[in-house]
Amino acid sequence: MDLSVLNGRGAIVTGGGSGISLAFVKLLFQAGCNVLIADLRLHSEAEEFINSIGSRSDLATKGSDGTRIAFHKTNVTVWKELENLFDVYKSEFGGVPYIVCCGAGLYEPTTKGWWDEKDDDDTYLLFRVNVFHPMKLCRIALRKWLGANAEGIICFISSTSAQKASIVTPLYQPSKHAISCFTRSMAPLQDLCGVRSCAVAPGLTASPMLFGSAATLKLFDPEKDTERLATPQAVAEGLMAVAMDREHYPPGTVLEVTGPNGRRVVNMLNDPGPAANTFLTGKTVGLQDVKAWIEKERAGSIS
Ligand SMILES: NC(=O)c1ccc[n+]([C@@H]2O[C@H](COP(=O)([O-])OP(=O)(O)OC[C@H]3O[C@@H](n4cnc5c(N)ncnc54)[C@H](O)[C@@H]3O)[C@@H](O)[C@H]2O)c1
Repeated sequence: MDLSVLNGRGAIVTGGGSGISLAFVKLLFQAGCNVLIADLRLHSEAEEFINSIGSRSDLATKGSDGTRIAFHKTNVTVWKELENLFDVYKSEFGGVPYIVCCGAGLYEPTTKGWWDEKDDDDTYLLFRVNVFHPMKLCRIALRKWLGANAEGIICFISSTSAQKASIVTPLYQPSKHAISCFTRSMAPLQDLCGVRSCAVAPGLTASPMLFGSAATLKLFDPEKDTERLATPQAVAEGLMAVAMDREHYPPGTVLEVTGPNGRRVVNMLNDPGPAANTFLTGKTVGLQDVKAWIEKERAGSIS
C-alpha cells in the first residue's frame, strides 16, 4: 500500500478529537497529510497529541515537516456546520480535501436511546449523529469534489453491529446497518466520478466510547471481554488500508477489524457474520434494564 500519495494532501475527519478517528488522524498526519479535525471538543489524548507535534497558532498546529493539524469545533448534527467545514478547510489549507472521514459517533447507552425516550426533537439524536451526518457529509463532499474536478475518498465507520441485532441497543444496531449499506451504495461513484467509498467495521474497541461511561461499562465484562478488544490504532490501520489499498479492496468495501488482530472483508450477500468474540458479554445485564422498562410501563408508572 503506497501512502506517499497522501503527502501534501489533506483530510477532514469528524470525531477526530477521540478514539478511532483520532488514531486515523495520527496515521494521516504521519503520512504527511494535513488534517482538519471536526468535533465537539478535543479530548485529552487529542490535546496531548496536538501539543506534542509542534508549534501551535490560533487554528493549526504545524509538525516539523510542515504538515498541519487544525481543529474546528463542530456539531455534526447541524448541516450548516458540515457545509462550513469545507470553507474552513479551504481557508486553512487551500482547495478541497482528498479524504473525508465521517468518524463522529454515539453509542446508545451513553446517549438518548430508544428505551428512555428522552429525544425532544422530532428525531433521534443517535440517528442524527450516526446516520444523517455521514450521509449529508458525503453529499456535500461529493458536490465539492465535482465542483473542483477532483477525486476523493469518503470513509465511514460502521461496526460489527451492522450484522447483528439487539433489543438493548435498538437504535445503534440499525444505525450501523445503514452505514454499511450506504458505503456499498456509493461504490459506483468510483467509476462515475473518481470518488472512492469505503468503511471499516470494528468489533469491540478500546476507545472512550466503550470505557468513557458507567452505562457502557456495565455491559463490559473485564474478564471475558478484555481479550476481545481491538485497539483504536488497529482499527485506524484497517481504515487506512481500505481507503488506500486499491489493489486488495474494491470501492464499497466494508472491512471488519476485530481484536486482537482480525481483519475480514464483509460480503453484502451470504456473509457468515462476525465471530462470537464480537459480542459484548454484558448485553445480558442490559436486558435486565429492558425488562425493568417493560415492568414499569406495565405498572403504569411511566406514561
Ligand atoms: N468503540 C467501539 O467499540 C466501536 C465499535 C464499533 C464501531 N465504533 C464506531 O467508531 C466510531 C468512533 O467511535 P470511538 O469508539 O472512537 O468513540 P469515541 O467516543 O472515542 O469518539 C467519538 C467522537 O465523536 C464525537 N462526537 C459525538 N457526537 C458528536 C457531534 N454531535 N458532533 C461532533 N462530534 C461528535 C465525540 O466528541 C468523540 O470525539 C463511531 O462511529 C462508533 O460507532 C466503535
